[in-house]
Amino acid sequence: MKKTTGFDRSKTKNWHPATQAVRGGTWRSEHGETSEALFLTSGYTYDDAETVAARFAGEAQGMTYSRLQNPTVAMLEERIALMEGAEACRTQATGMAAMTTALLCQLSAGDHIVAAKAAFGSCRWLVDHLCPRFGIETTVIDGRDNDAWEKAIKPNTKVFFFETPANPTMDIVDMRHVCDVAKAHGITTVVDNAFATSVLQRPMDFGADLVAYSATKLMEGQGRVLAGAVCGTEKFINDVLLPFQRNTGPNLSPFNGLG
Ligand SMILES: Cc1ncc(COP(=O)(O)O)c(C=O)c1O
Repeated sequence: MKKTTGFDRSKTKNWHPATQAVRGGTWRSEHGETSEALFLTSGYTYDDAETVAARFAGEAQGMTYSRLQNPTVAMLEERIALMEGAEACRTQATGMAAMTTALLCQLSAGDHIVAAKAAFGSCRWLVDHLCPRFGIETTVIDGRDNDAWEKAIKPNTKVFFFETPANPTMDIVDMRHVCDVAKAHGITTVVDNAFATSVLQRPMDFGADLVAYSATKLMEGQGRVLAGAVCGTEKFINDVLLPFQRNTGPNLSPFNGLG
C-alpha cells in the first residue's frame, strides 16, 4: 500500500521529541490550517474509475474508504511512527484492539506464544483464554528470568509477548536479551510499551519487532479518549497487519485521532 499522507519525514531529522509530538505527521489541506483537521468522512471522491482502482490496488497514493485510511488518523499514525523511530504505524480503537490485532494478525491455529506473566489483565486474558480457543498454544513465564524465554521455545513458537515495565507490577524484562533470543530463533517480539511510551523507551532500539500501545494512557495523557497503536516495519504493517485490520475493522475514529 502506498504512503497515505504527504508528510515528508526526511525534514524532521533534527526535530526534538516535543516538536515531533505536536507537529509530527501534520499534513495540511489547501486551507493551510496550523493544526491537523478533523476529517469526518467514511468515503472519498475520485476523478475517474482508473484512479480508484489504482488506489484500492495499493498502486497509487490516496484515500479510498476510512476503514482503510483517513487523513486525521493517518497524521496521528505518522506522528507515532516518527516518535517510535518505526517505519510504519497503524492505530486502533483501544489499546486492547491494538494488542489483539498485533497478535491475531500473525498467529494461526497450531502456533505457540511465549508471554510474560506480569501483564495488564486483558493482555493475560488474550493469552490465557482467547488464543487457546483458536488453537494457539501459550506458555506463560516469569519474564524477568532471562533463561526462561529460551527454555519455553518450541518448534512452533512464533511470538514473544511482554510489557516492560509491566502494569501494575513494574516487572522489568531484559529487552535486549529477549529480543536477541527471539531473533536467533526467528520469533517475532511484540512489546506492549504503554507504560513507558516512546518518550522514555523505544523498544525497537533494543531489537523489538512490533511495539503496541494503549494510547489511552500516558500517550494521550489527558484521559479524554480511548486509542491504540501498533508500530513495525512497513513490510509487516502493510503485508501482515493491514489485511487483518482492513477486513476486521478495529480502526480508530478520527474523533479520537486528533493530537
Ligand atoms: C499495559 C497496558 N496494555 C494495554 C492496556 C489496554 O488499553 P485500553 O484500555 O486502551 O484498551 C492497558 C490499559 O490500562 C495497559 O495499561
